[in-house]
Amino acid sequence: MMVHLMAYETIIVDVEDHICVVSLNRPDALNALNDTLLGELADALEDAQKNEKVRCIILTGSEKAFAAGADISVMANKNFVEAFMGDMFTEASNRILAIRKPIIAAVSGYALGGGCELAMMCDFIICSDTAKFGQPEINLGVSAGLGGTQRLTRFIGKSKSMDMNLTGRFMEADEAERCGLVSRVVPAKKLRDEAITAATRVAEKSMVAVAMVKEMVNRSYETSLDEGLLFERRGFHSLFATEDQKEGMAAFLEKREAQFRDK
Ligand code: HXC
Repeated sequence: MMVHLMAYETIIVDVEDHICVVSLNRPDALNALNDTLLGELADALEDAQKNEKVRCIILTGSEKAFAAGADISVMANKNFVEAFMGDMFTEASNRILAIRKPIIAAVSGYALGGGCELAMMCDFIICSDTAKFGQPEINLGVSAGLGGTQRLTRFIGKSKSMDMNLTGRFMEADEAERCGLVSRVVPAKKLRDEAITAATRVAEKSMVAVAMVKEMVNRSYETSLDEGLLFERRGFHSLFATEDQKEGMAAFLEKREAQFRDK
């Protein structure tokens, strides 16, 4: 059953079974990110985090654009002091990054500037064959500001990241898959279904293990290999304290489906 949640101005939120789909919805501006949209997005993700029914989140846009970047009409007249003292985009991005449930980005069309960076804040990206990624801020006389020089570099390496950030060129879906920016490319018409299928797969797991894995993978970007491996090993050890570990392994041995209870 699909449940439309509270009305927002710039996003649409649907909860169906255990999946929460958040769709960016500023069609006239190709989903350009402004304060309202980012605030509503953070609110919706926090609601999904609190909603016990929700086990996986999908963040998507329209067929033409996931998001074409931060809203240039809002930024155009800002000066340094306003951007810096207002700490532009910091609070919203911190709230998004604090979500512990898995978030899959389903990207069709443009994911540019802040749009590409928002997709990279999600846990993995599935895109359509029409997707175009880019960090074109250089064309506006500025730089990326939400991870376009940092996450992108860690994800695809220095040479491609410099290329994207310095030339502002767009990267098509096949190149994005080849260099590891996205996990899968699917035909545009199938994007939503593929994302739902992937989210449903995740939703079937033990949410304890899922939350632990999300922390583990994210930790790999923050620490040395040795410390990361220790964090992973101790997390793995601690999952033996769960009922879901007993159930998952017993189910395998008894050749049946596991019934996880998040305990
Ligand atoms: C505000 C935007 C916008 C944006 C598109 N629009 N992108 N408005 N901010 N980022 C608006 C257009 O002005 C236009 O409004 C409508 O959306 C449709 O866009 P068109 O340009 O007419 O469409 P098209 O010709 O198909 O070109 C699509 C496009 C182009 C290639 C994606 O719109 C584009 O280059 N957009 C800007 C991309 C960009 O530079 N992104 C980075 C932004 S800076 P009207 O009213 O004319 O119909 C950024 C900083 C992040 O993201 C840092 C975070 C801290």
